[in-house]
Amino acid sequence: MARSRLAVALDVPDLDEASLMAKRVRDSVEIAKIGLELYSAAGPAAVERMHDLGFDVFLDLKLHDIPTTVGRAARVLGRLGVRYCNFHAAGGEAMVRAAVEGLANGARDVSTTPPVALAVTVLTSDPDASAFDARLATALAGGCGGVVCSLLEIERVKHARADFVTVVPGTRLPTDDTNDQARTGTPFEAARRGADVIVLGRTVTAAAQPEEVAAYIAREVAKL
Ligand code: C5P
Repeated sequence: MARSRLAVALDVPDLDEASLMAKRVRDSVEIAKIGLELYSAAGPAAVERMHDLGFDVFLDLKLHDIPTTVGRAARVLGRLGVRYCNFHAAGGEAMVRAAVEGLANGARDVSTTPPVALAVTVLTSDPDASAFDARLATALAGGCGGVVCSLLEIERVKHARADFVTVVPGTRLPTDDTNDQARTGTPFEAARRGADVIVLGRTVTAAAQPEEVAAYIAREVAKL
């Protein structure tokens, strides 16, 4: 079902504002992506609110620090019951492994399912993806469940491991402004290439009628 492949990026500094946007698109979108801005404003309450609204949560905090620090933070985040959580592959294999173990330990602390641990490969705002293969190798070696990548790299991920989850942000409709994104494409192209989760950011949230754009994308993705 298309809805389960779509995430909305709630990039706002206020939880009530995020909730309003989430409610507008929830008929078409199953996953609420909480990033640095909203988590900085509202913390774990943002996760709880999105769960109450019926969403699965992708906690997009992109951890990157020494392995011990990341492992300890990941353990706390692993207790929140989110479906996806991420950190930078650029932190290296030891850090990635610490993150994966931290998330699993946190989930075990509260007897919940561990999040799918995602390594960020190369940011979609970066036109230079030359580090991609090395970052993918780090994610695979570090025990991740998948990666965040652009649609241009999905095939390489699936070739390396067919069941590795691909989460694809930075998608745009043909008429949209690309803003600060560089390695972009349409959500339909991402779906055709086999993206497991497609992140809809400003394409939906900056639209005059977000619910209509989200419904249109969900309808089109369902046809593929
Ligand atoms: O509005 P836009 O579609 O550019 O939003 C993209 C979202 O995906 C932002 O929340 C951004 O932080 C996130 N993201 C990204 N590139 C990555 C990982 C996450 O743009 N590699």
